[in-house]
Amino acid sequence: MSGDVEFDRIAPVYDETRPPPSEEEVRALAEILTGCRTILDAGVGTGRFAIPLRAHDFDVLGVDLSLGMMRRARAKGITRLVRADLTRLPFPGKVVDAAFMAHVLQLVPDPRPVLRELGRVARHRVVIVLPEWSERQTTEEGRELMRRYRELAAELGYSLPERGTRYRHTLNDLSAIAPPKEVRVVPGPSSLGLTPEERRGRWGTRMYGRGGLPPEVHATILLRLQAEHPTDLAVGTRSHTERFVAWDPIDLHDAI
Ligand SMILES: C[S@@+](CC[C@H](N)C(=O)[O-])C[C@H]1O[C@@H](n2cnc3c(N)ncnc32)[C@H](O)[C@@H]1O
Repeated sequence: MSGDVEFDRIAPVYDETRPPPSEEEVRALAEILTGCRTILDAGVGTGRFAIPLRAHDFDVLGVDLSLGMMRRARAKGITRLVRADLTRLPFPGKVVDAAFMAHVLQLVPDPRPVLRELGRVARHRVVIVLPEWSERQTTEEGRELMRRYRELAAELGYSLPERGTRYRHTLNDLSAIAPPKEVRVVPGPSSLGLTPEERRGRWGTRMYGRGGLPPEVHATILLRLQAEHPTDLAVGTRSHTERFVAWDPIDLHDAI
């Protein structure tokens, strides 16, 4: 699967591309997971959610394809980590109280095999964080900005790898597969306190993980983009709303 290569590349700068979950998110998640103790964090990444979950006394087992991302999680103290594909989890059924997955669904072409696996391994709950932005198409301005970033990198002698495909699975799509028990809409972390330069910097890093570019080259490209597109194109491309979608595992198991 190519996703692990892309995230291995992004891993060193991933935490610069998005802030930790908001307090509201962590509180909502802890409430939804009430009564659960062992949590499988599917696509744990650098531990962005695993860290606050652990702080709430959940016992977290992280699964991911990318060793680079998991190394970051390990450095932060998440030690129970397994490298595996979410469509083929190497665990027996009902091995954890809950399976949780944040910001992963947009990377998989078909949600069903992943949902089925999460429903198989969880005893009480399956929870997915489905950001509102994941349903949106990239705007024309966004595409132009990406194209120009690549072009400027090429001018400076760097050929950027293609970004992997993103898939737009909507809440309606998921509900059609299996109606969730609960959907909570929660404010995510806000980037409103950032300057336009910082927002654009975060955008560039998110799109390309710097693609192996030296930081000063990345900074030069961002300055050029800033001069060419003085309006803050990175603003308004993302909402700050997250949806926590929860199922009883049996419903996923029976439906898929
Ligand atoms: C955008 S990151 C999200 C990480 C973390 N959940 C967060 O919210 O910050 C997506 C993660 O999913 C992992 N991933 C994508 N497809 C996967 C798959 N089929 N099996 C296991 N991990 C996968 C990637 O390696 C990456 O670490």
